[in-house]
Amino acid sequence: MYRTHTCGELRASDIGKSVTLSGWVQKVRDLGAMTFVDLRDRYGITQIVIAENATAELKAQAERLGREFVVQVTGTVLERSSKNPKIPTGDIEIAAEVLNILSTSEVPPFTIEDNTDGGDELRMKYRYLDLRRSAVRKNLELRARMAHVVRNYLDALDFLEVETPVLIKSTPEGARDFVVPSRMNQGQFYALPQSPQTFKQLLMVAGFDRYYQIVKCFRDEDLRADRQPEFTQIDCEMSYVDQEDVLEVFEGLIREMFKQVLNVDIPKLERMTWHTAMEKYGCDKPDLRFGMEFCEITDLVQGKDFAVFNDAEYIGAICAEGCAGYTRKQLDELTDFVKRSQIGAKGLVYIKYNNDGTIKSSIDKFYSAEDLKAVCERCGAKEGDLILVMCGKKKKTLPQLCELRLEMGNRLGLRDKSVFKALWIVDFPLLEWDDETERFYAMHHPFTAPKPEDIYMLESNPGAVRANAYDMVINGVEVGGGSIRIHDKELQARMFRCLGFTQEQAEYQFGFLMNAFKYGAPPHGGLAFGFDRLASMFAQLDSIRDVIAFPKNNSGRDVMIDSPSLIADEQLKELAIKVDIK
Ligand code: AMO
Repeated sequence: MYRTHTCGELRASDIGKSVTLSGWVQKVRDLGAMTFVDLRDRYGITQIVIAENATAELKAQAERLGREFVVQVTGTVLERSSKNPKIPTGDIEIAAEVLNILSTSEVPPFTIEDNTDGGDELRMKYRYLDLRRSAVRKNLELRARMAHVVRNYLDALDFLEVETPVLIKSTPEGARDFVVPSRMNQGQFYALPQSPQTFKQLLMVAGFDRYYQIVKCFRDEDLRADRQPEFTQIDCEMSYVDQEDVLEVFEGLIREMFKQVLNVDIPKLERMTWHTAMEKYGCDKPDLRFGMEFCEITDLVQGKDFAVFNDAEYIGAICAEGCAGYTRKQLDELTDFVKRSQIGAKGLVYIKYNNDGTIKSSIDKFYSAEDLKAVCERCGAKEGDLILVMCGKKKKTLPQLCELRLEMGNRLGLRDKSVFKALWIVDFPLLEWDDETERFYAMHHPFTAPKPEDIYMLESNPGAVRANAYDMVINGVEVGGGSIRIHDKELQARMFRCLGFTQEQAEYQFGFLMNAFKYGAPPHGGLAFGFDRLASMFAQLDSIRDVIAFPKNNSGRDVMIDSPSLIADEQLKELAIKVDIK
């Protein structure tokens, strides 16, 4: 038997017991007469002592030990003379009687401790060592607990966990596919699923009624802190439901996860239309941990001598409470922030509503005190507040003002990671116009049902059609999204036409789904949560990489296994692939 207990288990009540532990050597302290060893495993750390009167053989073994050696220790549990209240096993120590070295270790490239000296790249290269650190491991433990709650909740509601294939045909979720060449069908390729969307719909046609899967999805897109090329969804679908039913069930799931895992009570989720979110927050994933809503002031400030405003389609403001005292330097910083290429604004106008009631702005020469007072009133500003104004084309200015609002939220400490504000965004537009390709794209995906009352506009005014689609947003992060699906083959064909598919293209890509709809498709709908995003939010982390055991870096590489990599000419030949890299 390798062990009788784990390294996190023994307490004062075990004093006197003979035990065997196995684990990694975290630290060796040789005090001459005595040697102390901190022995670590997943469950904790236990102190081992090689006493003064230990056998010569035992002492010799102890002398050989180094960091990260794997050892087995048999001994007696003793009360510690100097207790360590910081760890759960701090009341005891094990007086070693037998010490077996199970495996030696080279000196690890960084310290396996919470505050490690290893940089990001090094830790990723030796991820298996990084994962030994409790700070990293606990994120994966949290993730596993979350998955467990998901399964319990959905199982209790009769959802059936079904696996769908990974070698499939392209699913149009808007990103590029990862493709896999087929040896047996030379020149042809599988695509890895961007999501199991079409398969879960087929499972509804198959009568499975309620499906879920915690499933890997693959998208070849540019990476960010909240995006990985392979990530995990909690993917769900239900039959005979309308939007209300879906929101009810999955709001319940999220609240259950918060309660069971974090003991946080999430109140009933607010619903906000996409249109309101855009007008008030400039994006479809508003962070509601703080207010600072947009205030349109176009009508108030146009018609004076300020050409920049007169030429603008939209002029919007936010009110930063208590910031009237901002210095020149702080205001310049904000201006530089909005002028960065990622944001691309031309400039920023400020109006200070000073504590003494006076108003001072960067546009004083064009506006009277009354004009500016009217702006302050529109924005609900009090004495001591600062108003920040941006203008331009509405479609461009809203997201710029959104970035500024979030930046102000950061500066003012209003985005506390331990506070959770969840809401549903509903009534998304069905289609989105793309200026570059001059065509409409499905905002969610082509299987999303339009609102019945808007269907009549599908051909005449497609941009105005709203979808039965919804996103769940928490703290400014889109954690999930879904829709009620089209289950009528005629309407689905119409939708494909709106998206510019010819009959043949639609048939080639989605013939299997349209065929299935010929054989009795129940009304259905569902959604998918981004599991990594939820886990990183629960762990209060900035990046989803920290909740993934073996993540990719920002260039999509796994630096540990050194992938992607070249493959042998033989393999390429078998696949009939010619690689021509300049
Ligand atoms: P959608 O494309 O909105 O919907 O994806 C669902 C959720 O998955 C998460 N997500 C990601 N997480 C990490 N890295 C990525 N690259 C990434 N891309 C998406 C987000 C997102 O909300 N089939 C539909 C769902 C449905 O209609 O039922 C779908 O995939 O949190």
